Amino acid sequence: MSVLTKEKMYEDINRWKKEKNAIILAHYYQDGDIQDIADYVGDSLALAQKASKTDAKIIVFCGVHFMAETAKLLSPEKKVLLPVMEAGCVMADMMDEAAIKKYREENPDTIILMYVNSTAACKQYADVCVTSSNALKIIDHYSKLGKKMLYGPDKNLGAYAMEKSNIQMDLWHGFCGIHNGMQPKDVILAKEKYPNAEFVCHPECNLNVLKMANYIGSTKQLIEYVTKSDKKEFIIGTEIGVIHEMQKRNPDKKFYILSDRLRCFEMKLTRLEDLYNCLKDETNEINISEEVSKKAVKCVNKMLELS
Ligand code: 13P
Ligand code: SF4
Repeated sequence: MSVLTKEKMYEDINRWKKEKNAIILAHYYQDGDIQDIADYVGDSLALAQKASKTDAKIIVFCGVHFMAETAKLLSPEKKVLLPVMEAGCVMADMMDEAAIKKYREENPDTIILMYVNSTAACKQYADVCVTSSNALKIIDHYSKLGKKMLYGPDKNLGAYAMEKSNIQMDLWHGFCGIHNGMQPKDVILAKEKYPNAEFVCHPECNLNVLKMANYIGSTKQLIEYVTKSDKKEFIIGTEIGVIHEMQKRNPDKKFYILSDRLRCFEMKLTRLEDLYNCLKDETNEINISEEVSKKAVKCVNKMLELS
């Protein structure tokens, strides 16, 4: 029986990509093996932008379900595949379609700002979508209209935006388990251990942790920040997968993960073998009903227009 080595899988994947006119998009939280074979690695916004522009016929999305759904919303004519269908997002699951529908009905004049970490079914009720890299800009834009606003599902990013822009919004009660779990005491201990390191983190962390950061940004923004910085050491307050690209771009710098708990179980469900089988057999296609798609795509397009 022949064993499928990483090299053999890379060889076949590269061949199939050409034969099938397929593109592989991967999020920075994916395993290094997957990031290295992807055509494009990015944060949620960059991946959505890439999906909207590609000429490929097949998009294999190595990430979680809401990300592949966003790609499908933007490219309904393309075949969008998610190597592991069960790869979801705990935060996205904290917003239920029936609940947001009810909120919309009861608050017809409220502007609903929807974090991209949400299902397509929920996005139908939003005015605009945001990601961690454009949330502050888009929230600021809407706050000038002087209307009531709801931000969800991430209560932490919402609270951060309210503090930064000095505005009020209703907040949904969702959060990311791994980001929300970071505590100020973890940062204090890490700073004691690495006194020369800067602490950088993702805006999904709670406000007490965000206040201790030298820099806050999306996964892509964090990677760009540590790359441009003159500093040589960084404590990382987001999912461990980002360190792969940070280290690749900065072999002379040191990156310390804030806690061993910073592994997104859902993101790590996808293994190279899953990508291999998915592209080979063209399985796990994302389908969204035309009715949902027509409504949900509007808030994503609005975001791209304002980004
Ligand atoms: P980014 O948009 O920063 O890549 O974040 C996505 C995410 O799920 C963070 O937990
Ligand atoms: Fe969702 Fe958190 Fe995983 Fe990001 S890290 S995909 S918010 S569960």
